[in-house]
Amino acid sequence: MRYRRNSTPTGSEITPESIVLNRRRVVGVLGLGLGMATMPAGTVLAGLQADDTPTPEAIVTGYNNFYEFGTGKFDPAEYAHEMTVRPWTVEVSGEAARTGTFALDDLLKGLAVEERIYRFRCVEAWSMVVPWQGVALKAVLEQFRPNGNAKFVAFTTLERPKEMRGQRALFSGIDWPYVEGLRMDEAYHPLAFMATGLYGKPLPNQNGAPWRLVVPWKYGFKSAKSIVRIHFTNRQPRNTWNTLQASEYGFYANVNPSVDHPRWSQATERRLPSTLLNPNRRPTLPFNGYAEEVASLYDGMDLRRYF
Ligand code: MTE
Repeated sequence: MRYRRNSTPTGSEITPESIVLNRRRVVGVLGLGLGMATMPAGTVLAGLQADDTPTPEAIVTGYNNFYEFGTGKFDPAEYAHEMTVRPWTVEVSGEAARTGTFALDDLLKGLAVEERIYRFRCVEAWSMVVPWQGVALKAVLEQFRPNGNAKFVAFTTLERPKEMRGQRALFSGIDWPYVEGLRMDEAYHPLAFMATGLYGKPLPNQNGAPWRLVVPWKYGFKSAKSIVRIHFTNRQPRNTWNTLQASEYGFYANVNPSVDHPRWSQATERRLPSTLLNPNRRPTLPFNGYAEEVASLYDGMDLRRYF
């Protein structure tokens, strides 16, 4: 698979052939879910397997991890409305020519809004298929003209205890704010995405409004929500789950069925909806099914070590 430099990938460039062949079927499924007769131009169905269908909207927006609102899966849907998402400003700092504080609307102005239907795999071994809308992460970051010292980029979530009850909890264990990071070449990969919507609607607060990272080949905790700060740096930034428990969560966190979590297997996943009676289990794929696109980013790295 090849990418043209400095260009936005089109569906046919990054869509595996089997998926292109299956597009008609997936369109049919989406037709029900999204109320659309046809797929919008520029839709990317990256990494979808033949039996992947979008997870129902009620589950994508009702079963979440967003510890700022509590540790329960239903807490974000219940409490995230307490977060104010307009106006939203983003502070950009570090190794870049253009830094400062920007209104989110200004950062998004002029960027092509795309639809990306991605598999999403949580480190807890559940997974979904999500129809996102948003912009290529590279298109966002290029605006700041990062310099040669920018080897990594860090993303920070809103810290606002008044509106985020999980940040007021005495024993959350998390050192707020939530931070995540990527190597610059990962951030510039065509699959790396900033979502501003899902299922054709503005991103619900519980999913990380008004914009959140989506890195489909990595465990879900890399996909930081409600981002207020972007920092370019020459050093690997700290990331929340690694700080919390380094023996269980790494920086790279590429989906890897052959490296188990110390407390559970990563070989399979439960595709939501999943119940005790019907766990809907399926094999987990290396890089969550995106190996063909992203594996070369890690040439020469010991993937058992860089979990
Ligand atoms: N971002 C913030 N700020 N806080 C969080 O607790 N949880 C992460 C990630 N981003 C999290 C976060 C984890 S563990 C997962 S699996 C995904 O968000 C869940 O995204 P979803 O709720 O939209 O499915």
